[in-house]
Amino acid sequence: MDGDWYYINSDDKAGFKNFEELNPELTAAKGKATDYIKDLLEGKIRNLRISGTPGTGKTHLAKAIARTLKHKGRKVAFIESRKLFDNIKNTFGNRVAQERFEKQFADFDLVVLDDVGVETNKAADELSWSSREWVKLIDLRRGKSTVYTTNFDKESLKAVIGARSVSRIGENSETIELFTPDHDYRDRLLY
Ligand SMILES: Nc1ncnc2c1ncn2[C@@H]1O[C@H](COP(=O)(O)OP(=O)(O)OP(=O)(O)O)[C@@H](O)[C@H]1O
Ligand SMILES: [Mg+2]
Repeated sequence: MDGDWYYINSDDKAGFKNFEELNPELTAAKGKATDYIKDLLEGKIRNLRISGTPGTGKTHLAKAIARTLKHKGRKVAFIESRKLFDNIKNTFGNRVAQERFEKQFADFDLVVLDDVGVETNKAADELSWSSREWVKLIDLRRGKSTVYTTNFDKESLKAVIGARSVSRIGENSETIELFTPDHDYRDRLLY
């Protein structure tokens, strides 16, 4: 089952140890991420939204959270939202597969959803379908913990996945904002 739900390569080393604290914002972000893990290990149910511009380490932090909790024996999923929606589409017309998908999704201790909002192709009908699907997915995770990373700030995300979904994500929720204009880690890797 891991194959469908856990998309972190075994040779991917993104974790807390190699997360560089290049500025105070990143130090705070790392602190929030480790606090989040502590809360979950204490049995608390919390969501986390990590928003920010490209290359600021959202996926890196999200992987660090997923890998740490998996290491501690929790049932963890890590999946890009685009892949998640492809998998949903593959269950169309197959009620058994659909129900299995929903049961698995609802069952994880932690689900990390990377790149929320990238799954839509912006066509009006697709947008409304994915908006409805988001409400359903978030409701399936009620009473469990979920991490959402996204390039969209709160207001833009409302336009992309729907205001109801953004509001639901906000229940019992922590937020990490990584919008430093001068920090794109990928620029650094180029020089
Ligand atoms: N603070 C950091 N310390 C170490 N590596 C970092 C840091 N920030 C980013 N990186 C590395 O830079 C690359 C890009 O980071 P990452 O994929 O996490 O960005 P992102 O915020 O998810 O970007 P996008 O919005 O495009 O998805 C990765 O290889 C990641 O490991
Ligand atoms: Mg990313």
